[in-house]
Amino acid sequence: MNKLMTNIMEQSMPANKVPAATPLLPRQRAIIIGSARGLGAALARHLATKGYHLGLIDRNPDLLNAICTEINTANGAIVALPYVHDATSYGEVPALMQKIMADLGGLDLFIYNAGILLPTTPTTYEFEKDRQMMEVNALGAMAWFNAVAPIFQALGSGQIVGISSVAADRGRVGNPGYNASKAAMATYLEALRNRLTRHGVHVLTVKPGFMDTDMLKSSPRTFWVVSPEQAASDIFKAMKSRRQTIYTLGRWGLIMLIIKHIPSVIFRRLSF
Ligand SMILES: NC(=O)c1ccc[n+]([C@@H]2O[C@H](COP(=O)([O-])OP(=O)(O)OC[C@H]3O[C@@H](n4cnc5c(N)ncnc54)[C@H](OP(=O)(O)O)[C@@H]3O)[C@@H](O)[C@H]2O)c1
Repeated sequence: MNKLMTNIMEQSMPANKVPAATPLLPRQRAIIIGSARGLGAALARHLATKGYHLGLIDRNPDLLNAICTEINTANGAIVALPYVHDATSYGEVPALMQKIMADLGGLDLFIYNAGILLPTTPTTYEFEKDRQMMEVNALGAMAWFNAVAPIFQALGSGQIVGISSVAADRGRVGNPGYNASKAAMATYLEALRNRLTRHGVHVLTVKPGFMDTDMLKSSPRTFWVVSPEQAASDIFKAMKSRRQTIYTLGRWGLIMLIIKHIPSVIFRRLSF
């Protein structure tokens, strides 16, 4: 066993295999990156109620164990398996992906939710924060998308969901690094959709406005705040109806349409 694989096996908690799906009890299988807190945890709970078997990934072993225990207890069976992984450890991705697929018995849905928003001000310039946001929000996503896409393409099925943000739609004075990282993910997903739709693979881009999670604590001015449970329900409905892009709340779609069309000569005078 090579060193990389050994590291992954050591980082993965003792994981029982989920019960095998049968023709009478078919099970969808999903991986969620960034699933111990906030929207990721809400998505995990929601998918478990819809009968999914889950490979849950996050960096914090205690929180990850807690969400798996909660879901498995609620289901009276092991349906959620924990895997400790930092989304910036790109080299681990291919082997970890294979291990989770083996544990789950396949894969139907992949969700990249991990994200960080590092606070800054309109007059500070901090490359280190920009680098971290690009690494977690964009490069980590690309590492996983590159592992998942060829598998779904070969299968001729599967769903890929990326959690971007309304922040992707326009570069604003507040946080250029966060805007750029979320725009990178949204553009990458659009390109993947254009590649994969013809192979039967569905790609969904999610652009939340404000969600009531730990991340919101670093955003001073908020309104139309949605609960992570509501956002998870919106995302699931969008998956089922095979939408391409959704905003949650939906009204953000109209607002961002207007904001996207504000001419630059006016937009650069605004302070948001
Ligand atoms: N909250 C909002 O208002 C809002 C609005 C628009 C978009 N979003 C996006 O929605 C997604 C979910 O955000 P949230 O509000 O639920 O935020 P959150 O409560 O801060 O949760 C973020 C999750 O991502 C995980 N994560 C962060 N860095 C990671 C890494 N390097 N490797 C693995 N996991 C990592 C965190 O794990 P740890 O516990 O290890 O930190 C946590 O589970 C993010 O992509 C965010 O950018 C949020």
